[in-house]
Amino acid sequence: MKKVTKAIIPAAGLGTRFLPITKALPKPMLPVLDKPTVQYIMEELKNAGIDDVIIVVSPGSEIIERHFSAAQELEKRLIADGKTELYDIARETCSFKVKFVEQKVANGLAGAILCAEKYIGDEPFALLLGDELLIPKEGGKGCISALKNIYESTGKSVIATMEVFGDDVSKYGNIGIKNENDGVMEVGAIVEKPALSDALSNNAIIGRYVLDGKIFSMLKTLKPRNNEIYLTDSLDELAKRGELLACTTEDYRYDVGDKAGYIKANVETALKSPEIGEEIKNYVIELAERIKA
Ligand code: UTP
Repeated sequence: MKKVTKAIIPAAGLGTRFLPITKALPKPMLPVLDKPTVQYIMEELKNAGIDDVIIVVSPGSEIIERHFSAAQELEKRLIADGKTELYDIARETCSFKVKFVEQKVANGLAGAILCAEKYIGDEPFALLLGDELLIPKEGGKGCISALKNIYESTGKSVIATMEVFGDDVSKYGNIGIKNENDGVMEVGAIVEKPALSDALSNNAIIGRYVLDGKIFSMLKTLKPRNNEIYLTDSLDELAKRGELLACTTEDYRYDVGDKAGYIKANVETALKSPEIGEEIKNYVIELAERIKA
């Protein structure tokens, strides 16, 4: 069975929910505490043993490339000042093996994936949406690592899912499940953001996938709707052929492409910080008292 050694991070969306900051700053560079969101995703991949990564960026996103390159003047200064810990933090971002490809026009997630085809060929690949953070629980190996294991033992494409209820059902791609075995579900159909009454289940698609390379030829046949081509259309085709699996994740998930999700990710990351965690905890407790009153 083929091994999963490559990954695509689509990060070329317009980020309109975060205007005006996304006019000049690409959304993947928005910080959660002191790191851009895209660095957390690179760390997730590193933990899963996947280090051949393609980030799909929008035109004018050179700042992302700069983040993953050396900053010689800064590094020299940190060494000269004896600030070795900060030097290591600055250098760490150069340790990721990453390539960039530009998506000239934001024509949808499927369009972004097609931009990376020449780097992937017909290999299987991990797909991690640039605006979702998945943080493993204590001792957990992480979502993408679990999906990689499922692909490598079955040879079938696999997507991560979580349970959603009420109005949230219509915010996500929705999965129809044929059967489940040991936490791994066979997917029968996919519908994109259904009305609650049309939903196939309470299982929503979240932004982690391991896909077989055959998806590229399927993506090329897609017809645009609202100027975009949709990955979910090809996933539905795979599901109907009996070639798509799904698996729930135990990880904490933050939708950092959404304002509320972004703030939650920042607060929770700050609470875990050895540097400022205690101060922020006291502040959150004091704030909760204040707003309750
Ligand atoms: P979204 O549609 O959720 O995000 O795309 P967006 O378009 O960036 O943001 P809004 O909705 O305008 O605020 C999901 C993921 O797919 C990527 C995005 O960068 C995001 O990580 N994407 C989307 C692309 O890379 N290219 C596209 O054409 C569309």
